[in-house]
Parts: sequence; C-alpha cells; structure tokens
Amino acid sequence: MNGKKADIILGIESSCDDTSAAVLRDEYLLSSVIASQKVHERWGGVVPELASRAHLMNIVPVVDQALDQAGVTMDDVSAIAFTRGPGLLGSLLVGTSYAKGLAIATGKPLVEVNHLQGHILSCLVKEEGKENIVPDFPFLTLLVSGGHTQIVKVCGHFEFEILGQTIDDAVGEAFDKCSKMMGLGYPGGPIVDRLAKEGDENRFKFNLPHIQGLDYSFSGIKTSLLYFLRDRLKENPDFIEENKADICASFQKALIDILMKKLILAVKQTGIRQVAIGGGVSANSGLRNRIAEEGKKRGWQTFIPEFRFTTDNAAMIAISGLYKYRRGEFCTLDKPSVPRASQML
Ligand code: KG4
Ligand code: ZN
Repeated sequence: MNGKKADIILGIESSCDDTSAAVLRDEYLLSSVIASQKVHERWGGVVPELASRAHLMNIVPVVDQALDQAGVTMDDVSAIAFTRGPGLLGSLLVGTSYAKGLAIATGKPLVEVNHLQGHILSCLVKEEGKENIVPDFPFLTLLVSGGHTQIVKVCGHFEFEILGQTIDDAVGEAFDKCSKMMGLGYPGGPIVDRLAKEGDENRFKFNLPHIQGLDYSFSGIKTSLLYFLRDRLKENPDFIEENKADICASFQKALIDILMKKLILAVKQTGIRQVAIGGGVSANSGLRNRIAEEGKKRGWQTFIPEFRFTTDNAAMIAISGLYKYRRGEFCTLDKPSVPRASQML
C-alpha cells in the first residue's frame, strides 16, 4: 500500500432494460447488482414505456443493495458515475435523474459515461482473488450488442477509433430476429445460443454479405433467413419445430463467420494482436469459442469477459467513471440524457 486513499466509484446503468448499480474500489469490483426486466418477454422486445417504469421501481433498491454488498455508504463514495447515453430516452432519464439527485443530496461529484465506452472498458475491471489479466493499449475490441456492431481500436481510456461498423442492423438484432422469426421468444440471443449447442452448424448454408473494408452488414442475412424459412415451411409446416437446433446452429455460425472475417482483417491491417470482445453478444458461447480458437491459432492475446460483464451492467460504467474522475472530468447538472451515440463516442 502506498498510503494513497482509494477511489470508490458508484456506477449506475439504466440505458435499456437492465437496472444496475456497482461499486468499485479503484479498479477492483466490490459489488454488482443487476435487476433484469422480465416484463418485456411477452411483447417479444423491449417496450420503452414499460422499461422506464420498471427502472423507477428498481433503481432505489438496486443502488442500496450495491452499496450494502460493497460494505460502503455514500460517505465513502468518491464519485457517482452514470450512463448518459446512448439508449432509450425514458430509461436513461431514470438513471440520470437518480444520479443527479444523489449528487445534490450528498454533495458527491457526478461523472457521465458513454454506455459504449463502458462496454469497451469492461475488460479492465479487476476482482480480488482473480488473475486479472487486462490488455495494454492499444488493443482492438469487437463491440457487439443489441444496438451496435463495431471494431474499435482502443489507444487509451478515452482514445477510440472506430475502424469498422455495421452499415445497417446490429448483430444482436440479427440474433433476436432469428428467434422471433422462428417463434422461439425474447431475448433471442441466449435462446439461439442454447439451441445452437445441440445442432449441426454445417447443415444449412446462408450467403454471407460482401461489404468493403472493415464494415459489417446484417440486414441481408436476416432476409435470407426469412425467405429460407418461408420456402421450407411451404414444403413442411413442421420444418422449424423439427430442425430448430440445426437452423440456430447454422445461422449462428454464419453470424460468427461474418464477425470473425472482419476482425481477422482488422488485426492484419493494424498489427494489433490484443483482441477483446464486449457487449451482449459477447456472451455467445459460439463466438467466445471461435475468438479463443482463432486467437490461439493466430497468436493473438484474447480478452473474453466474464458472462456478467457482457450484457448491460454498471461495473463497466463505474470503471469508465473511475478514469474520468481521475482526469477531473465532471458532469454538470444541466446536462440531459443523450439517446444517440453520434454525439458521444
Ligand atoms: O449489450 P446488451 O445487453 O444491450 C445493448 O447495449 O444492446 O446487448 C443485448 C443483445 C441482445 O440482442 C441479446 O439478444 C444479445 O445481446 N445477447 C446474445 C446473447 N446474450 C445476449 N446474443 C447471442 N448469444 C447470447 N448468448
Ligand atoms: Zn449494452
């Protein structure tokens, strides 16, 4: 110990349908609480109004629990970090307003965090008693979520370069649509992932897109799945039921092939061999295995987050907030939530 007082950061995340709070002592996680909202399942997707209402119900107990589990009180907290955007406006407003209210009530400084930056920096969170191998700068991150698909060159905590990104849909959306088209439920990613484990990934072939450079496209492959299912169902109305594991495995493989092709190209072009993944789709077991395999084969050092740091969580908000706090970058109370990514990264 060098005697320096530790920085204690309370992170608050409410950009979509998970209400989350976490506490860090420097880079080390003291607690992480996530309340996921089940209310959207019956609607087959996130209903923004229901999401904001559920955040309102959850935010107070979630923050209290995170502080309790960390064994700290607001007196110990150095700064409050919250997700300012991007995300659903009503959802963001709940976390933003709560963080601001807490800052006013306690006199603690407020730090705004970009949700995407949070996903990118989530690989820097450490835990007591773990190996905690984190990447050095520069590293590449494949950021794959319900709203984004990007290859990002990370040169510093706040120095990012987007090398490639989707020109239409995000890969998470393709997973969710696959499940929806097959009538399997929501959220689709984990359902497709689970079924894919039991299926033959080489049974059906889908045409992969030909997009220039490091950009992605997922709208074409979604349409080919739609036509494929429509044609097969004409021949056999039970086609989906009889083949669902093979369809999921084959479609998932196609999505992973698309992701990996550009990631391999990005490593070749940049010469950067430290490769991380982040965002909800990085929970996908097929993608995790492929990145690990390719990494081994190609001599990359790969950073695959623990499951609980893949989908939306506040630990990633707290770590991003920590670095901002250390730079003395604070948020004023007049700053509104920002639903779109364009102004932020
Ligand atoms: O990062 P995230 O929690 O929220 C956004 O910022 O969008 O990502 C949610 C996305 C959803 O599309 C969900 O289906 C997908 O991540 N997802 C998965 C898996 N778990 C979550 N996709 C594939 N396989 C999974 N196991
Ligand atoms: Zn996210």
